[in-house]
Amino acid sequence: MISSIRGFNDILSEETILWQHIEECARNVFKTYGFSEIRIPILERTELFSRSIGNTTDIVEKEMYTFLDRNNESLTLRPEGTASVVRAYIEHKLYNSPTAKFYYLGPMFRYERPQKGRYRQFYQIGAEVFGIDEPRVDAETLDMLLFLFNELKLDNVKLEINSLGCKECRPLYKQKLKIFLSNKKEELCENCQRRIDANPLRVIDCKSQKCIEITKDAPSILDSICGNCKTHFDDVKKYLALFDRKYSINPRMVRGLDYYTRTTFEITSNKLGAQNAVAAGGRYDGLVKELGGHDTSGFGFAIGMERLALLLKEAGGIIEPEPTIFLIGIGEKAEIEAIRILKELRESGFIAEMGYQNKGIKNQMKIADKLGARIALILGDDELANNEITLKDMKTGEQDRVKIEGLATGLKTLNIKKQA
Ligand code: HAM
Repeated sequence: MISSIRGFNDILSEETILWQHIEECARNVFKTYGFSEIRIPILERTELFSRSIGNTTDIVEKEMYTFLDRNNESLTLRPEGTASVVRAYIEHKLYNSPTAKFYYLGPMFRYERPQKGRYRQFYQIGAEVFGIDEPRVDAETLDMLLFLFNELKLDNVKLEINSLGCKECRPLYKQKLKIFLSNKKEELCENCQRRIDANPLRVIDCKSQKCIEITKDAPSILDSICGNCKTHFDDVKKYLALFDRKYSINPRMVRGLDYYTRTTFEITSNKLGAQNAVAAGGRYDGLVKELGGHDTSGFGFAIGMERLALLLKEAGGIIEPEPTIFLIGIGEKAEIEAIRILKELRESGFIAEMGYQNKGIKNQMKIADKLGARIALILGDDELANNEITLKDMKTGEQDRVKIEGLATGLKTLNIKKQA
């Protein structure tokens, strides 16, 4: 047997019902906020990610699936969607449209150590807004994300926000932090010792208990941001209040991608274990320019689909499969008529299955039971001669003979849910 690759999962039908429910909810919510769907490629030039996510991030340093194609070009399986959406925004001159709000769904790839809620192929639902650096965009996009959680009846999540400042004030903070960390260098983990010079902010985000302890009195970025960034952050908080959204401030949240400026955030749940962020994102005002476009602002987020599905399951949000009708035709003549009925039922929107003759009626009833059929319809010679069919309610066990003519209409009144 050839098994699947570690960290790459099959999503089976029980799970896909839940995923489809999430996707449908997301599409509906995003539409009401003026977002439209963009489909981006799974493969991109490696440079797109190294230039946007940052050369010294974990993702670029050690987690990307990168290879040379037959033309010796370095390509990478996308580890996230933002960089690709920015590339598409520039490439297709999408800045000419009055609103540039996009959402996307699909698999991302990171060579991480698999554990609960962390996989090597995982799915994201993401959204990005371009061209408006108003703080209301940050609050409104967060309101949309939280509204989606409300629609999914997941109220047990927390929004944490922070500001990472801009290209003017962040270098000053980095300097302060470097001085603080240099004095404690020997005590930090090996990874963090290396990061002090290259990317000191990441040290604050280290998950090692020792590093957390050592950096607990590190200078806070919120004490270092410039006046403009402070006003922006204060306004984001003001608008979040106007949208009636609760949040807490976490000055240690630095995020694992380098493109962020000003607002960053995470939506967390204590039901997820170590990988507690179900969604995350922020503002990235320099990224469009960095990738060759105009000086355009950006704000966005991505939800981790597996983690969201896990939360929904925890909350008991199991989606029941739609009821099925199971048809049984006994004998050659009955089978011909049963096929006609099967087609009619499906074309009327019912989910209908039909058993196979060689199984015998008892076995077919067992199959109907296993399928969780709501109704079984049995057609034998006797029924056929009277233009009738036996209708068995699989829940109550009651059965009755009904006319074949008008069957689909009659079934609709029986409160069997129809496909939309
Ligand atoms: P990120 O924080 O790297 O941000 O990922 C966003 C979410 O994807 C995480 O909060 C988590 O739920 C999920 N996720 C990440 N890695 C894994 C994994 N290995 N297995 C399962 N789930 C995972 C981004 O990707 C940014 N592009 C978000 C963004 C959009 N920022 C601005 N716009």
